[in-house]
Amino acid sequence: MELFEAIKTRRSIRRYKTDPVDDKKIEAILEAGRWAPSWANTQCWRFVVVRDAKVRAKLVDTLMKIKLPDREIPNPAAAAMNTVPVIIVVCAKIGIAGAGHGSPGSKAQYVTDKGDWFMFDTALAVQNMVLAAHAQGLGTVIIGAFEATQVGKILSVPEGYRVVALFPVGMPDQEGKAPPRKELSEIAFKDKFGK
Ligand SMILES: Cc1cc2nc3c(=O)[nH]c(=O)nc-3n(C[C@H](O)[C@H](O)[C@H](O)COP(=O)(O)O)c2cc1C
Repeated sequence: MELFEAIKTRRSIRRYKTDPVDDKKIEAILEAGRWAPSWANTQCWRFVVVRDAKVRAKLVDTLMKIKLPDREIPNPAAAAMNTVPVIIVVCAKIGIAGAGHGSPGSKAQYVTDKGDWFMFDTALAVQNMVLAAHAQGLGTVIIGAFEATQVGKILSVPEGYRVVALFPVGMPDQEGKAPPRKELSEIAFKDKFGK
């Protein structure tokens, strides 16, 4: 699949078939993540591939409910997580992305006003991975609304790492519908912000 086509046609998929996904395809997805750019090539990302149904069920329990004014609803991706064959959990080693040569763990350690760039670097890897999944005919949905500490416990993520995001991977059982995007004129400017 051509790159622009992949970027434009990738959708968040929230309904999956139960068909298995073979290891080669998962490996290609991980490989796409591995080749993402990162701060000073520090590659803070770590990926946990979950296929075990019992672990999957525990992960589903960590999804946060969405609060509406009058009630709470399940995370829209919760149903998808129950049936999908594979979930990839993305973790980050803390304290290396964005860091200079200051003492590790201190604020002075970071080069920019943004501090630790782990969210940024893992996001680059995640985007590569979801596009690689889509290019292979697989669906994904990035999930951020979950109890990360609980996921860390379930997967035995060690100290010094944070769980950032997770995404199911499986054969889509729906045509994703594209939510609208802002017009370029609203988000891209010439020479000066807002112009
Ligand atoms: C950082 C991040 C967190 C997200 N968390 C969730 C989530 O918890 N549950 C969910 O159903 N979708 C989640 N999404 C998916 C977005 O809702 C979706 O990407 C957006 O509506 C645009 O739709 P599209 O991906 O089909 O283009 C998340 C996306 C991102 C980038």
